[in-house]
Amino acid sequence: MSVSKIHVDLSGPPQTMLDMLYGKALDADSPHPILNDTFAKTLVEQLDYDWQASAITRQRRRQVASIVVRGTQFDTWAREFLARHPQAVVLHLGCGLDSRVFRLDPGPGVQWYDVDYPDVISLRERLYPGRDHYHLVSASATDPSWLTAIPADRPGLLLAEGLSMYLPEAEGVALLRRVVERFPAGEIQLDFWSRLGMRAQKRTNRVITHSGSTLGWTVNRPEEVLAAVPGLRVISATSMFGADTVERLPKGHRRVAKVASRTPGLRKIIQFHRYGF
Ligand SMILES: C[S@@+](CC[C@H](N)C(=O)[O-])C[C@H]1O[C@@H](n2cnc3c(N)ncnc32)[C@H](O)[C@@H]1O
Repeated sequence: MSVSKIHVDLSGPPQTMLDMLYGKALDADSPHPILNDTFAKTLVEQLDYDWQASAITRQRRRQVASIVVRGTQFDTWAREFLARHPQAVVLHLGCGLDSRVFRLDPGPGVQWYDVDYPDVISLRERLYPGRDHYHLVSASATDPSWLTAIPADRPGLLLAEGLSMYLPEAEGVALLRRVVERFPAGEIQLDFWSRLGMRAQKRTNRVITHSGSTLGWTVNRPEEVLAAVPGLRVISATSMFGADTVERLPKGHRRVAKVASRTPGLRKIIQFHRYGF
C-alpha cells in the first residue's frame, strides 16, 4: 500500500529550513551520525519534495558538517539550561521543521514555544504529533504581539538557530531587548554570521538566492550585542570551527576546521553565542 506524501508548497525564506532538514536527515542516514536526528529522516521520507533535484537542497549532499555541528551545540546548551531551570519557558524562534523539542524531550515543568511563519507552522502541524506543554506560534519572530501572551514569571530561553541573518538588525535587537525586559532571568542562544561571512554567503550560498531571502543582521563579536542589548552577559561564544562537536567530525573536516579556526577573519564567519541575563 502506498502512503500519500505531504506536498511542500513554500516560497521565500521558509524554504531555507528544507536545506537544514535535509542535512540532518543525511546525517541520520550516514554510517556514523553525529546529531542523529531520526525525526528529520522520517520527515524527508514523508514529504513530497525532490530533495536531490531542488535548487534549495541539492548541494547539501556535499556538506552536512556545519548543520550538525551547529545543531549539536545548541542542543547541548539548551540541555544545560533546562537542567538548571526545569520550570522554564523556551522560545524556539525560526524553528523550521527542527525536532529539537522531541530530541531534548523536556520535563513537564517546561513550556516550549516553536515560532515560525504560518506556512512552516501548518506543515509542522501535519508532520509532528502534539505533546503536553508544547505550543506552536504562527508569526514573525519580530512581531512584538505574540510575546505578550507568553507566561513570563519564570526563566526564559530564547533559542534561534539560523535566524539572525534573515532579520533586519534593528528588529533583531528589538526582539532580544523585549525578551530581556520581559523575563526575570534567562538565556539567549543564537548564531551569527560576521560581515565577512555574510559577504561570502551572498556569493556562494545558493539557498539564499533560490529562496529569495533578504539578509540583514551581522555580528563580528559579542561586544556588539552587549552594547545593543542592556542586561546581557556573555556565557560562551565560539566560532563554528572551534565548537566541541568538530572533534567528532571525520579527520579531513577536523583539519580544515583547525586551519579555519586559526585564520583571522575566517575564524569568525559563523559564530555561536550564548548570553545570560
Ligand atoms: C535556516 S532555517 C533554520 C530552521 C531551523 N532553526 C533549523 O535549524 O533547522 C530559517 C528559519 O527561520 C524562519 N524565519 C526567517 N525569518 C523569520 C521571522 N522573521 N520570523 C519567524 N521565522 C523566520 C524561516 O521560515 C525558516 O524556518
